[in-house]
Amino acid sequence: MARETWATRLGFILAAVGSAVGLGNIWRFPWQTAENGGSAFLIVYLAIVLLVGVPGLLAEFVIGRRSNKSPVGALRDLSGSKTWGAVGVFSVVTGITLLSFYSVVGGWILRYLLESGVSLVGANPAYFANPGQYFGGVSAGADAALYHLLFLGLTALVVFAGVRKGIELGTKLMMPAVVVLLGGLAVWAATQPNAAAGYSFFLRFDPSVLSENFFAILGPAAGQALFTLSLGAGTMITYASYLDEDRSLPFDGSAIAVLNTFVGVLTGFVVFPLLFSQGINPAETGTGPGALFVGLAGAFSQLPAGTLIATAFFAVVTLAALSSSISMLEIPVAFLVDEYDIERRNAVVGMGALVAITGTVCAFNPAIFGFVAGPLVNAFLTAGLAAFLLFVGWVMGRDALDEFTSGVGSFGESLATPWLFAVGVVLPLFLVFTLLSQFGVDAA
Ligand code: PHE
Ligand code: NA
Repeated sequence: MARETWATRLGFILAAVGSAVGLGNIWRFPWQTAENGGSAFLIVYLAIVLLVGVPGLLAEFVIGRRSNKSPVGALRDLSGSKTWGAVGVFSVVTGITLLSFYSVVGGWILRYLLESGVSLVGANPAYFANPGQYFGGVSAGADAALYHLLFLGLTALVVFAGVRKGIELGTKLMMPAVVVLLGGLAVWAATQPNAAAGYSFFLRFDPSVLSENFFAILGPAAGQALFTLSLGAGTMITYASYLDEDRSLPFDGSAIAVLNTFVGVLTGFVVFPLLFSQGINPAETGTGPGALFVGLAGAFSQLPAGTLIATAFFAVVTLAALSSSISMLEIPVAFLVDEYDIERRNAVVGMGALVAITGTVCAFNPAIFGFVAGPLVNAFLTAGLAAFLLFVGWVMGRDALDEFTSGVGSFGESLATPWLFAVGVVLPLFLVFTLLSQFGVDAA
């Protein structure tokens, strides 16, 4: 059976943007920015997106488009070595791991969406009891498991329908809806009293971050940049493997990074004015991703049109999360389809059943959830991206240059060699450095 491809270039870009834009943008990004020096953090983050994120994205694209295979087959075929194929299996594990916790969070959000529509903002702040923590307090137990299964079911439905009729069509509908709704909410938020205090909380420029705390924010900024661009899991390899003709990868990669950052900033322009307009000062009530929900639920419940606004907001979060979770499920599914000729539908059912179990474990056990969502995923993505970069730099070499330049103009061609050097040498060193700093080794 012929392998599927994207119907259009825009379809590919939107699918990749859909993967990138997610809870990372809406949940983590505004808070990390506000907590780590505002626009000073933003500058460091943007530099990392440009210097590490985009080249890394292009490395995954080059592997995928060159091989037209998902990570296992891609690394094996391009290298001619089974050992590299085994490295690719790591992606399959990463995809399953990511989806196991992400689907639980997706479940919380789905619950917020459903409850905000039915009752007058029935969202219960108690779900997120420990706002100070990394991924927020955890709503655990049977409810969480049930909503996780619901969210996973939606994810599986999209992937079940295939690359064109599922992922491409789905993200083509979801991403414009996200941007339009979020833009509308941002405009509305700007009209609220005291909105300016929200903006300045979000983006005030704290220069001390760039001098004293620079190394302290480098780790979080790098971790955020990888997670937000969906790097290191093999999702972007898989998506690029469905490209058939050679178009400019640097253009597509840059467009994806820009749109992804735009959505993150736009979310900040919704969340913070809204909180401040309701007299909720996140600096006092405690920040952290959990507070996004605690604080927002509080704000929504005070608003006259709270139900409508809350529904719009949680619809945005649900769509953003869903367009990311499908890209996680697609990794193990594509693996089964490519390597074992298993029919897509059966692969989705099989992998869906597996994640139903692993996600349920996360839903019941906050300690496991926290470990998976934090250190485990961080380590997997960093190590995964390092492996892809080294592969492109040292195994593909000329082939990678060839793939990078096909479909680009002369400006793009001039970037190819510096890109390969960055990918093979500079960025892996940078990743090792940030990995060590995340584990508390004082690399500075
Ligand atoms: N980029 C997604 C987000 O920001 C998360 C993700 C990571 C998706 C890795 C796929 C692979 O929410
Ligand atoms: Na993102």
